Amino acid sequence: MRKAEKQAPGPPLRLQGLSKVYGPNPQQALDLLRRGTPRNEIHANTGHTVALHDVSLNLPGGQVSVVMGLSGSGKSTLLRHINRLVEPTTGQVWCGDTDVSALNAAGLQQLRRHRMAMVFQRYALFPHRTVLHNVAYAAGVRGAPAVDAHRVARHWLERVGLAGQDNSWPATLSGGMQQRVGLARALASDAPVLLMDEAFSALDPLLRVEMQTLLLELQRDLCKTVVFITHDLQEALRLGDQVVILYDGSVVQQGDPARIVLEPANEHVRRFVRDVDRGRALKCGALAVPGPAVEGPTLSDQTSLQDAVHALRVAGAVQANVSSDSGPLRGVVTLDQLLACWAV
Ligand SMILES: Nc1ncnc2c1ncn2[C@@H]1O[C@H](COP(=O)(O)OP(=O)(O)OP(=O)(O)O)[C@@H](O)[C@H]1O
Ligand SMILES: [Mg+2]
Repeated sequence: MRKAEKQAPGPPLRLQGLSKVYGPNPQQALDLLRRGTPRNEIHANTGHTVALHDVSLNLPGGQVSVVMGLSGSGKSTLLRHINRLVEPTTGQVWCGDTDVSALNAAGLQQLRRHRMAMVFQRYALFPHRTVLHNVAYAAGVRGAPAVDAHRVARHWLERVGLAGQDNSWPATLSGGMQQRVGLARALASDAPVLLMDEAFSALDPLLRVEMQTLLLELQRDLCKTVVFITHDLQEALRLGDQVVILYDGSVVQQGDPARIVLEPANEHVRRFVRDVDRGRALKCGALAVPGPAVEGPTLSDQTSLQDAVHALRVAGAVQANVSSDSGPLRGVVTLDQLLACWAV
Protein backbone atom coordinates (compact mmCIF):
# COMPACT_ATOMS: atom_id res chain seq x y z
CA MET A 1 0.00 0.00 0.00
CA ARG A 2 1.34 3.42 -0.93
CA LYS A 3 2.29 5.74 1.89
CA ALA A 4 0.20 8.86 2.25
CA GLU A 5 0.59 12.12 4.09
CA LYS A 6 -0.93 12.48 7.50
CA GLN A 7 -4.19 14.43 7.29
CA ALA A 8 -5.55 16.95 9.76
CA PRO A 9 -7.85 15.23 12.28
CA GLY A 10 -11.58 15.11 11.57
CA PRO A 11 -13.98 17.23 13.64
CA PRO A 12 -15.24 16.13 17.05
CA LEU A 13 -18.87 15.02 17.28
CA ARG A 14 -21.10 15.87 20.19
CA LEU A 15 -24.47 14.33 21.00
CA GLN A 16 -26.45 16.20 23.58
CA GLY A 17 -29.50 14.86 25.40
CA LEU A 18 -30.51 12.80 22.40
CA SER A 19 -33.75 10.84 22.67
CA LYS A 20 -35.61 9.05 19.93
CA VAL A 21 -39.05 7.56 20.18
CA TYR A 22 -40.58 5.77 17.21
CA GLY A 23 -44.37 6.06 17.09
CA PRO A 24 -47.14 8.60 16.46
CA ASN A 25 -46.94 10.53 19.74
CA PRO A 26 -43.33 10.53 20.89
CA GLN A 27 -43.78 13.27 23.52
CA GLN A 28 -46.35 11.16 25.34
CA ALA A 29 -43.85 8.30 25.50
CA LEU A 30 -41.11 10.63 26.76
CA ASP A 31 -43.42 11.92 29.51
CA LEU A 32 -44.08 8.34 30.60
CA LEU A 33 -40.36 7.65 30.56
CA ARG A 34 -39.70 10.72 32.72
CA ARG A 35 -42.26 9.44 35.20
CA GLY A 36 -40.29 6.22 35.46
CA THR A 37 -42.39 3.92 33.28
CA PRO A 38 -40.10 1.17 31.95
CA ARG A 39 -39.43 1.07 28.21
CA ASN A 40 -41.08 -2.32 27.71
CA GLU A 41 -44.27 -1.13 29.48
CA ILE A 42 -44.40 1.95 27.27
CA HIS A 43 -44.09 -0.31 24.26
CA ALA A 44 -46.73 -2.76 25.51
CA ASN A 45 -49.25 -0.05 26.48
CA THR A 46 -48.75 2.58 23.77
CA GLY A 47 -46.89 0.85 20.90
CA HIS A 48 -44.06 3.41 21.06
CA THR A 49 -40.43 2.28 20.92
CA VAL A 50 -37.94 4.27 22.93
CA ALA A 51 -34.85 3.66 20.79
CA LEU A 52 -32.58 6.19 22.52
CA HIS A 53 -32.99 7.91 25.83
CA ASP A 54 -31.02 10.98 26.90
CA VAL A 55 -27.77 10.08 25.20
CA SER A 56 -24.95 12.58 25.64
CA LEU A 57 -21.56 11.74 24.16
CA ASN A 58 -18.38 13.46 23.11
CA LEU A 59 -16.72 11.61 20.26
CA PRO A 60 -13.21 13.03 19.83
CA GLY A 61 -12.07 14.29 16.42
CA GLY A 62 -9.63 12.11 14.50
CA GLN A 63 -10.33 9.04 16.62
CA VAL A 64 -12.27 5.80 16.26
CA SER A 65 -15.25 5.64 18.60
CA VAL A 66 -16.89 2.25 18.67
CA VAL A 67 -20.52 1.97 19.73
CA MET A 68 -21.52 -1.48 20.80
CA GLY A 69 -24.54 -3.16 22.29
CA LEU A 70 -26.98 -5.98 21.77
CA SER A 71 -29.42 -6.09 18.88
CA GLY A 72 -32.10 -3.43 19.39
CA SER A 73 -30.03 -1.38 21.84
CA GLY A 74 -30.21 1.66 19.54
CA LYS A 75 -26.82 1.60 17.77
CA SER A 76 -28.05 2.26 14.23
CA THR A 77 -30.50 4.84 15.50
CA LEU A 78 -27.65 6.66 17.24
CA LEU A 79 -25.44 6.55 14.15
CA ARG A 80 -28.18 7.78 11.87
CA HIS A 81 -28.77 10.83 14.02
CA ILE A 82 -25.26 12.01 13.25
CA ASN A 83 -26.07 12.69 9.58
CA ARG A 84 -29.76 13.14 10.40
CA LEU A 85 -31.06 10.17 8.49
CA VAL A 86 -33.08 9.97 11.69
CA GLU A 87 -34.54 13.13 13.27
CA PRO A 88 -34.23 13.34 17.06
CA THR A 89 -37.31 13.52 19.24
CA THR A 90 -35.26 15.73 21.56
CA GLY A 91 -31.62 16.73 21.70
CA GLN A 92 -28.89 17.99 19.44
CA VAL A 93 -25.98 16.76 17.37
CA TRP A 94 -22.88 18.86 16.71
CA CYS A 95 -20.21 18.20 14.11
CA GLY A 96 -17.36 20.54 15.05
CA ASP A 97 -19.05 23.94 15.27
CA THR A 98 -22.03 22.90 13.15
CA ASP A 99 -25.34 22.28 14.86
CA VAL A 100 -26.49 19.41 12.64
CA SER A 101 -29.97 19.49 14.17
CA ALA A 102 -30.46 23.09 12.96
CA LEU A 103 -29.35 22.65 9.33
CA ASN A 104 -31.84 23.38 6.54
CA ALA A 105 -32.18 21.01 3.56
CA ALA A 106 -29.31 22.64 1.62
CA GLY A 107 -27.02 22.62 4.66
CA LEU A 108 -27.82 19.00 5.32
CA GLN A 109 -27.04 18.06 1.74
CA GLN A 110 -23.68 19.83 2.01
CA LEU A 111 -22.94 18.00 5.25
CA ARG A 112 -23.76 14.60 3.76
CA ARG A 113 -21.76 15.22 0.59
CA HIS A 114 -18.69 16.83 2.02
CA ARG A 115 -18.32 16.04 5.68
CA MET A 116 -19.77 12.60 6.35
CA ALA A 117 -19.61 9.28 4.53
CA MET A 118 -21.30 6.01 5.45
CA VAL A 119 -20.20 2.41 5.09
CA PHE A 120 -22.94 -0.18 5.48
CA GLN A 121 -22.96 -3.86 6.35
CA ARG A 122 -24.41 -4.80 2.96
CA TYR A 123 -22.01 -2.76 0.82
CA ALA A 124 -24.89 -0.96 -1.00
CA LEU A 125 -22.95 -0.80 -4.27
CA PHE A 126 -24.63 0.17 -7.54
CA PRO A 127 -24.96 -3.20 -9.32
CA HIS A 128 -24.95 -1.69 -12.83
CA ARG A 129 -21.82 0.40 -12.36
CA THR A 130 -18.29 -0.94 -12.53
CA VAL A 131 -16.09 -0.86 -9.45
CA LEU A 132 -14.37 2.28 -10.74
CA HIS A 133 -17.67 4.03 -11.40
CA ASN A 134 -19.04 3.04 -8.00
CA VAL A 135 -16.10 4.74 -6.32
CA ALA A 136 -15.86 7.65 -8.74
CA TYR A 137 -19.51 8.40 -8.05
CA ALA A 138 -18.64 9.57 -4.52
CA ALA A 139 -16.00 11.95 -5.82
CA GLY A 140 -18.37 13.12 -8.59
CA VAL A 141 -21.06 13.96 -6.05
CA ARG A 142 -18.57 16.30 -4.43
CA GLY A 143 -18.43 18.16 -7.71
CA ALA A 144 -15.15 16.77 -9.10
CA PRO A 145 -14.99 16.63 -12.94
CA ALA A 146 -15.15 13.07 -14.33
CA VAL A 147 -11.44 12.81 -15.06
CA ASP A 148 -10.53 13.86 -11.52
CA ALA A 149 -13.20 11.60 -10.04
CA HIS A 150 -11.64 8.65 -11.88
CA ARG A 151 -8.16 9.56 -10.70
CA VAL A 152 -9.40 9.84 -7.10
CA ALA A 153 -11.28 6.53 -7.45
CA ARG A 154 -8.16 4.73 -8.75
CA HIS A 155 -6.14 6.12 -5.88
CA TRP A 156 -8.54 4.79 -3.25
CA LEU A 157 -9.03 1.45 -4.99
CA GLU A 158 -5.27 1.03 -4.86
CA ARG A 159 -5.15 1.96 -1.18
CA VAL A 160 -7.79 -0.60 -0.24
CA GLY A 161 -5.93 -3.27 -2.21
CA LEU A 162 -8.14 -3.40 -5.31
CA ALA A 163 -5.79 -2.06 -8.00
CA GLY A 164 -6.68 -3.60 -11.34
CA GLN A 165 -10.34 -4.21 -10.48
CA ASP A 166 -11.58 -0.98 -12.13
CA ASN A 167 -13.75 -2.68 -14.71
CA SER A 168 -15.14 -5.49 -12.57
CA TRP A 169 -18.85 -5.63 -11.78
CA PRO A 170 -19.78 -5.69 -8.08
CA ALA A 171 -21.62 -9.01 -8.37
CA THR A 172 -18.44 -10.74 -9.58
CA LEU A 173 -16.51 -9.77 -6.44
CA SER A 174 -16.36 -11.65 -3.15
CA GLY A 175 -18.02 -10.13 -0.08
CA GLY A 176 -14.68 -8.96 1.25
CA MET A 177 -13.81 -7.24 -2.03
CA GLN A 178 -17.22 -5.61 -2.21
CA GLN A 179 -16.72 -4.23 1.27
CA ARG A 180 -13.35 -2.83 0.16
CA VAL A 181 -15.17 -1.06 -2.69
CA GLY A 182 -17.65 0.31 -0.14
CA LEU A 183 -14.78 1.60 1.95
CA ALA A 184 -12.99 3.09 -1.09
CA ARG A 185 -16.20 4.86 -2.05
CA ALA A 186 -16.54 6.37 1.42
CA LEU A 187 -12.89 7.49 1.34
CA ALA A 188 -13.24 8.94 -2.17
CA SER A 189 -15.80 11.39 -0.84
CA ASP A 190 -12.93 12.86 1.21
CA ALA A 191 -15.36 13.35 4.10
CA PRO A 192 -13.56 13.79 7.44
CA VAL A 193 -16.25 11.79 9.29
CA LEU A 194 -16.84 8.09 8.58
CA LEU A 195 -20.00 6.45 9.87
CA MET A 196 -19.71 2.67 9.76
CA ASP A 197 -22.72 0.53 10.69
CA GLU A 198 -21.69 -3.11 11.29
CA ALA A 199 -19.48 -2.60 8.25
CA PHE A 200 -17.53 -5.82 8.71
CA SER A 201 -20.17 -7.97 10.40
CA ALA A 202 -21.19 -9.89 7.27
CA LEU A 203 -17.62 -11.01 6.54
CA ASP A 204 -16.13 -14.31 7.64
CA PRO A 205 -13.79 -14.03 10.65
CA LEU A 206 -10.50 -13.91 8.73
CA LEU A 207 -11.67 -11.30 6.26
CA ARG A 208 -13.14 -9.35 9.10
CA VAL A 209 -9.79 -9.13 10.87
CA GLU A 210 -8.16 -8.20 7.55
CA MET A 211 -10.60 -5.32 7.08
CA GLN A 212 -10.00 -4.15 10.64
CA THR A 213 -6.27 -4.09 9.94
CA LEU A 214 -6.85 -2.15 6.74
CA LEU A 215 -9.02 0.40 8.53
CA LEU A 216 -6.42 0.85 11.28
CA GLU A 217 -3.64 1.28 8.70
CA LEU A 218 -5.61 3.82 6.72
CA GLN A 219 -6.66 5.64 9.86
CA ARG A 220 -3.04 6.21 10.86
CA ASP A 221 -2.70 8.66 7.95
CA LEU A 222 -6.27 9.76 7.48
CA CYS A 223 -7.18 10.67 11.09
CA LYS A 224 -10.88 10.58 10.31
CA THR A 225 -13.48 10.87 13.00
CA VAL A 226 -14.83 7.33 12.78
CA VAL A 227 -18.00 6.11 14.46
CA PHE A 228 -17.98 2.35 14.16
CA ILE A 229 -20.98 0.25 15.18
CA THR A 230 -20.53 -3.36 16.15
CA HIS A 231 -21.97 -5.98 18.45
CA ASP A 232 -18.62 -7.74 18.63
CA LEU A 233 -16.52 -6.89 21.67
CA GLN A 234 -13.26 -8.21 20.23
CA GLU A 235 -13.75 -5.92 17.22
CA ALA A 236 -14.61 -2.99 19.50
CA LEU A 237 -11.48 -3.48 21.59
CA ARG A 238 -9.29 -3.79 18.53
CA LEU A 239 -10.59 -0.75 16.67
CA GLY A 240 -11.76 1.65 19.32
CA ASP A 241 -9.77 4.55 20.73
CA GLN A 242 -12.84 4.69 22.89
CA VAL A 243 -15.81 2.38 23.29
CA VAL A 244 -19.39 3.31 24.11
CA ILE A 245 -21.74 0.64 25.42
CA LEU A 246 -25.44 1.08 24.77
CA TYR A 247 -28.09 -0.84 26.63
CA ASP A 248 -31.81 -0.36 25.99
CA GLY A 249 -31.15 3.01 24.34
CA SER A 250 -28.97 4.43 27.11
CA VAL A 251 -25.21 4.75 27.47
CA VAL A 252 -24.08 2.46 30.28
CA GLN A 253 -20.34 2.95 29.91
CA GLN A 254 -17.97 4.98 27.81
CA GLY A 255 -14.20 5.11 27.78
CA ASP A 256 -10.87 3.55 27.05
CA PRO A 257 -11.39 -0.06 25.82
CA ALA A 258 -9.11 -1.53 28.47
CA ARG A 259 -10.98 0.24 31.26
CA ILE A 260 -14.23 -1.28 30.05
CA VAL A 261 -12.73 -4.75 30.35
CA LEU A 262 -10.94 -4.07 33.62
CA GLU A 263 -13.64 -2.00 35.32
CA PRO A 264 -17.06 -2.86 33.86
CA ALA A 265 -19.62 -0.30 35.07
CA ASN A 266 -22.43 -2.76 35.79
CA GLU A 267 -23.58 -6.34 35.54
CA HIS A 268 -24.59 -5.96 31.91
CA VAL A 269 -21.13 -4.80 30.84
CA ARG A 270 -19.51 -7.42 33.08
CA ARG A 271 -21.43 -10.12 31.22
CA PHE A 272 -20.35 -8.61 27.92
CA VAL A 273 -16.65 -8.61 28.77
CA ARG A 274 -16.56 -11.87 30.70
CA ASP A 275 -15.45 -14.06 27.83
CA VAL A 276 -13.08 -11.67 26.14
CA ASP A 277 -9.61 -13.03 25.44
CA ARG A 278 -7.70 -10.57 27.62
CA GLY A 279 -4.31 -11.89 26.60
CA ARG A 280 -4.96 -10.71 23.05
CA ALA A 281 -7.38 -7.85 23.59
CA LEU A 282 -5.56 -5.87 26.26
CA LYS A 283 -2.40 -3.94 25.55
CA CYS A 284 0.31 -3.42 28.13
CA GLY A 285 -0.07 0.37 27.82
CA ALA A 286 -3.29 -0.06 29.83
CA LEU A 287 -1.39 -1.63 32.74
CA ALA A 288 1.78 0.47 32.73
CA VAL A 289 2.41 2.10 36.09
CA PRO A 290 4.27 5.41 35.74
CA GLY A 291 7.72 5.39 37.28
CA PRO A 292 11.43 5.41 36.49
CA ALA A 293 12.88 2.98 33.95
CA VAL A 294 13.75 -0.48 35.27
CA GLU A 295 16.21 -3.13 34.20
CA GLY A 296 14.48 -5.28 31.61
CA PRO A 297 13.25 -5.18 28.01
CA THR A 298 11.30 -2.24 26.59
CA LEU A 299 7.92 -3.05 25.06
CA SER A 300 5.60 -0.96 22.94
CA ASP A 301 2.42 0.09 24.76
CA GLN A 302 0.55 -1.67 21.93
CA THR A 303 2.01 -5.08 22.85
CA SER A 304 -0.73 -7.51 23.89
CA LEU A 305 -0.52 -9.03 27.36
CA GLN A 306 0.09 -12.41 25.77
CA ASP A 307 3.05 -11.14 23.72
CA ALA A 308 4.39 -9.17 26.68
CA VAL A 309 4.44 -12.26 28.90
CA HIS A 310 6.20 -14.18 26.13
CA ALA A 311 8.78 -11.39 25.66
CA LEU A 312 9.51 -11.29 29.40
CA ARG A 313 9.92 -15.04 29.58
CA VAL A 314 12.26 -15.10 26.58
CA ALA A 315 14.31 -12.31 28.16
CA GLY A 316 14.28 -14.05 31.55
CA ALA A 317 12.98 -10.81 33.08
CA VAL A 318 10.24 -10.11 35.62
CA GLN A 319 9.53 -6.53 34.59
CA ALA A 320 9.59 -4.37 31.48
CA ASN A 321 9.54 -0.74 30.47
CA VAL A 322 6.57 0.33 28.39
CA SER A 323 6.95 3.10 25.84
CA SER A 324 4.59 4.65 23.33
CA ASP A 325 5.36 4.31 19.61
CA SER A 326 6.76 7.80 19.52
CA GLY A 327 9.29 6.87 22.17
CA PRO A 328 8.65 8.30 25.63
CA LEU A 329 8.50 5.94 28.59
CA ARG A 330 4.94 5.40 29.79
CA GLY A 331 5.74 3.28 32.78
CA VAL A 332 6.58 -0.19 33.92
CA VAL A 333 4.77 -3.55 33.93
CA THR A 334 5.67 -6.61 35.96
CA LEU A 335 5.24 -10.24 34.97
CA ASP A 336 3.03 -10.86 38.03
CA GLN A 337 0.78 -7.96 37.11
CA LEU A 338 0.45 -9.16 33.50
CA LEU A 339 -0.37 -12.72 34.56
CA ALA A 340 -2.84 -11.61 37.22
CA CYS A 341 -4.73 -9.44 34.75
CA TRP A 342 -4.68 -12.10 32.06
CA ALA A 343 -5.87 -14.88 34.32
CA VAL A 344 -8.90 -13.12 35.87
N1 LIG B 1 -38.03 3.09 11.70
C1 LIG B 1 -38.35 2.50 12.87
N2 LIG B 1 -39.63 2.45 13.29
C2 LIG B 1 -39.97 1.88 14.47
N3 LIG B 1 -39.09 1.33 15.31
C3 LIG B 1 -37.79 1.35 14.94
C4 LIG B 1 -37.35 1.92 13.70
N4 LIG B 1 -36.01 1.79 13.62
C5 LIG B 1 -35.61 1.15 14.75
N5 LIG B 1 -36.68 0.89 15.54
C6 LIG B 1 -36.64 0.24 16.87
O1 LIG B 1 -35.73 0.97 17.69
C7 LIG B 1 -34.96 0.11 18.50
C8 LIG B 1 -33.49 0.33 18.22
O2 LIG B 1 -33.23 -0.08 16.89
P1 LIG B 1 -31.81 0.01 16.19
O3 LIG B 1 -31.98 -0.41 14.78
O4 LIG B 1 -31.23 1.35 16.44
O5 LIG B 1 -30.98 -1.07 17.03
P2 LIG B 1 -29.55 -1.70 16.77
O6 LIG B 1 -28.82 -1.63 18.07
O7 LIG B 1 -28.92 -1.07 15.58
O8 LIG B 1 -29.90 -3.23 16.48
P3 LIG B 1 -29.17 -4.29 15.48
O9 LIG B 1 -27.91 -4.74 16.21
O10 LIG B 1 -30.16 -5.39 15.38
O11 LIG B 1 -28.88 -3.61 14.18
C9 LIG B 1 -35.42 -1.31 18.18
O12 LIG B 1 -36.37 -1.69 19.14
C10 LIG B 1 -36.08 -1.17 16.81
O13 LIG B 1 -37.09 -2.11 16.63
MG1 LIG C 1 -28.31 -1.78 13.70
